[in-house]
Amino acid sequence: MTQVRDSFHSRIGFVLAAAGSAIGLGNIWGFPTNAANNGGGAFLFVYLVVTLLLALPALYAEVYIGNQSQKNPVSALGDACKNISERLGRNAGIIGLCGAIMMLSFYTIVAGWMLSHALSAITQLMGFNELSSWLGTSSTERNLVFTPIFILLGAAIIHQGVNAGIEKWSTRLMPVLLIMLFGLIVYILQQPGAMEGLKVYLVPDFSQLTNPKLIVSAMGQAFFSLSIGVGGMMIYGSYMQKDKDLGKLVISITALDTGIAFLAGLLIIPALFVAQHAGQQVFQGNQLIGEGQLIFHILPELFASMGTIGLIVAIGFFMLLSIAALTSTISSTEVPVAYLVEDKNISRHKATWLVSGTVLFFSMLLIAFFDVLFGAFIRVLTTILQPLSCLFYFIVVGWLWHRGNKLRDKALQVDRPWLKHWGNYIRFVCPILLTVVFVNVAILN
Ligand code: PFF
Repeated sequence: MTQVRDSFHSRIGFVLAAAGSAIGLGNIWGFPTNAANNGGGAFLFVYLVVTLLLALPALYAEVYIGNQSQKNPVSALGDACKNISERLGRNAGIIGLCGAIMMLSFYTIVAGWMLSHALSAITQLMGFNELSSWLGTSSTERNLVFTPIFILLGAAIIHQGVNAGIEKWSTRLMPVLLIMLFGLIVYILQQPGAMEGLKVYLVPDFSQLTNPKLIVSAMGQAFFSLSIGVGGMMIYGSYMQKDKDLGKLVISITALDTGIAFLAGLLIIPALFVAQHAGQQVFQGNQLIGEGQLIFHILPELFASMGTIGLIVAIGFFMLLSIAALTSTISSTEVPVAYLVEDKNISRHKATWLVSGTVLFFSMLLIAFFDVLFGAFIRVLTTILQPLSCLFYFIVVGWLWHRGNKLRDKALQVDRPWLKHWGNYIRFVCPILLTVVFVNVAILN
């Protein structure tokens, strides 16, 4: 059965959807936490370097493979590896797909917390104090309610398809997110204590730069933040018309993602110092008291200390995180959905429910064995699966195309002198750099 493939209808639709995938809890929660724990400005500096040297080329490679093949990641990688082993490529695609399910199973739990905290502030504003305190307090029951709600929200968008669902909602939600973020920054920066936080964030302590943990954390953060290595960006690349100027688009996505992470740092790090100024204990030595506590204890207390306006700020903040998380879950969900639709001839409707059901199963498993599984899933995905997938993408783009693969022809049609250097950079430098960092991760773990 040949079907006309759904696609993005505009370049801006693609950029916003891809930026929507990239911009998520990783930017607004992960990046500032990592920065606060790893020397503030020093982390920011290393993060920017790693993004430029490694994450941006990896994003390019992933989007490029998808765009050239115009297929889902399993078929795309299978095609790209035809000359050596189609099965190897397809298996790599399947591993990425499992990574997407892994990502969704912990991400939807955290996203559920964001949603419940937003509702906690709303119900408090309405005077339902008991309900508000239940919504604002971590519990298994709360996870059992909000994780499925979040999975359903994502499914409702995916179910509508690429143009009517993903493109339309990303175009609507992303500007709202930006406006909310700016509003919150302006508010927080006016509070006492904020300037001290700003200094820690913007003035790098270069003595931290030799710390190998810093580079490893920055790389993991950059890959997670740009959604690389699970096929989400590959599938979005495949929904773009072939042979667009991908370089420019990839640079825009990276700039937007990095820009939002930077802005989130401008919000969260000063907010921590505002909390400290207000008498809360935020740091123990150089470390934040706990990643979970950062947003879920310190910030709600800070908001509460601001009275009614604080409740409104809290609603804005947690809605912001919920929206950012929603647009990120969409791209991961689309990876297995597109595979089932295109390769297994299952209807989009059925595929969406099948994938959502699988994610629900794994997230329930994580909730049941939270202490053992939650951190382990995050670690395996970000420190093993994502870097290895990226290494594979570099090898596919840099080496397999040079073996006369049909993908190569298109790649080389673009007649620009710098493209040759870019090709060599992806071919030689990126795999070596990535291997060096990866070996470091293994040693540090
Ligand atoms: N980039 C998202 C974030 O920063 O929160 C997380 C993510 C989304 C990772 C989609 C992987 C993915 F496929």
